[in-house]
Amino acid sequence: MTKKANSNVIWGGRFSGATEEIMESINCSVEFDKRLYKYDISASITHVKMLVQRRIINNEAGNNIEQGLKSILKEIEEDKFQFKREFEDIHMNIEVRLAELIGSEAGLIHTGRSRNDQVATDFRLWTRDAIDELILLVEGLMKSLFVQAKNNVKTIMPGFTHLQVAQPITFGHHLLAYMEMFFRDIQRLKTTRARLNECPLGAAALAGTSFPIDRMKTASELGFDRPMYNSIDAVSDRDFSLEFLSSSSICATHLSRLAEEIIIWASAQFNFVRLSDKFTTGSSIMPQKRNPDAAELIRGKVGRVNGALIGLLTVIKGLPLAYSKDLQEDKEAVFDTFDTMVICLTAMRGMVDDIEANRDVMKEAAKLGFSTATDLADWLVRELEIPFREAHKLTGSIVSLAEKKNCRLEDLDLKTLQDVEQRITPSIYSVLGVEESINSRNSYGGTSFSQVESQLQRWKEKLF
Ligand code: ARG
Repeated sequence: MTKKANSNVIWGGRFSGATEEIMESINCSVEFDKRLYKYDISASITHVKMLVQRRIINNEAGNNIEQGLKSILKEIEEDKFQFKREFEDIHMNIEVRLAELIGSEAGLIHTGRSRNDQVATDFRLWTRDAIDELILLVEGLMKSLFVQAKNNVKTIMPGFTHLQVAQPITFGHHLLAYMEMFFRDIQRLKTTRARLNECPLGAAALAGTSFPIDRMKTASELGFDRPMYNSIDAVSDRDFSLEFLSSSSICATHLSRLAEEIIIWASAQFNFVRLSDKFTTGSSIMPQKRNPDAAELIRGKVGRVNGALIGLLTVIKGLPLAYSKDLQEDKEAVFDTFDTMVICLTAMRGMVDDIEANRDVMKEAAKLGFSTATDLADWLVRELEIPFREAHKLTGSIVSLAEKKNCRLEDLDLKTLQDVEQRITPSIYSVLGVEESINSRNSYGGTSFSQVESQLQRWKEKLF
C-alpha cells in the first residue's frame, strides 16, 4: 500500500499518516484469516489445474504456480512465512508471496476468479472441517456420558420440576436425557455440513466469468457436492456460517445446562456428586472451598457463542447483494465459536469422566419432598377407580397430614390414610417406596431400571 498525502482539511495534514494506519487497521484481516491458509492454497491449486486443463493458462505457468503455492504452504507450516498487514488478508499475502517466488506469472492465478468467491470457498472448506472436529468431540462426550449412565442405572435421585422435588428418577436416566440433546446437536451439525457443501468457486466477483472455466471439476476436486447454482448467492450469503453458529449455540446451551446442574449437584447443600480436583479450584481465602470453575466457565462461555450468532445475524441483515466488506466480519465470530466449543466440549468430557455420584445422599434426597405422592394418587385411580382429579385432591390432603406430622408418606399409619379415604388398604404402602415408584414407571422412555437399560442398549449399538 502506498502512502498518500492526506489533505483532509478537517483532520489537518498532520493526520495523514494516522488515517492510513487506521485504514490498514480497519481493513486488515490477515491476523485472523490466516487460519484459512491451507484451504486457500488447496483451492488455488485446484483452480489453477482447471485453468490449465481448459487451456486458459499454459502448462508451464500452471506448474510454476502450483510449485510456488506448495512452497508457500511449507513456509507457513514451518512458521517461516511473514504475514504482512499491508497486504490485507490471507489471499493477498499468499498472492504477493507467490509473485516474489515465481514472478509475474503469479498474477495468472486470479484468472476467472475473485477474492469474493475465493474467500467464500475457503471459508466453506474450513467450516466443513471444523464441523467434523466438533462432531468427534460431541461423540466423545456422549461416550463418557454413556459410561456414567451405565454405572448409574440404579442410582436413585430426586427428579425435579421447577427445581422442586417432583418424582424419583435414576441418575442414569437423567444423564441419558443429555445424550438425546447432544445427539440432536450432532444431527444439526451434520445437516449444516450437508447444506454448506456446495462450491462458490467460479462465481468470481458476483456475475460469473467470461473464461471457459469448469466449475463442476473444481467443485468435485474440492470435495463439494456441486457448484453453487447462483453466482450472486455464492459470494453474498453466509447462511452456512449462521447455521454453524446456531448449531454451536444450541450445543453450547446444552453444555451450559449440564454445567449448571453439575454446579448445583456439587454444592454442599445438594452434595449429589463429587468433582475431581482436576476441574475444581480452591479459594485463596476460604480453605474449605472446592469451586466448580470449569463448569462455571462452560456455563459462562455460552455468552460469547450466543453473542457471535447475534453479531453475525446483525452484520448480514441489512446487506444488499452481492459482496460487501462487512462480510469480512464473519470470520472472528466463527473462529472464536469453534475454539470455545473445542474447549468446552473437552472440559465437559473430562469433568463427566471424573464425576463420582454420592449414591446414598442422592437416594435419601429422593425420599424427601413427598416424591411418591403421584404414585399414591395413581394407586387410588388404579385400585379404587377414583378419577385422577379427585385422587389428586385426596393425595393433597394426605400430603398435608404428613407435612403436619413432619413425616414421610410411608410413615403415616393406615388409620390416618383411611380417615381421608376409607377404602385404602395396606397394599398402598407398596407404591410409596422410591424404588417401587421408579420401577413402576416402565412406560417407553420412562425411568424404570429396565427402560433405562434398554435405552443404554440402543446407545451402545449406536455409539460403539
Ligand atoms: N478479506 C476479504 C473477506 O474476508 C476477502 C474478500 C475481499 N473482497 C473484496 N472485494 N474486497 O471478505
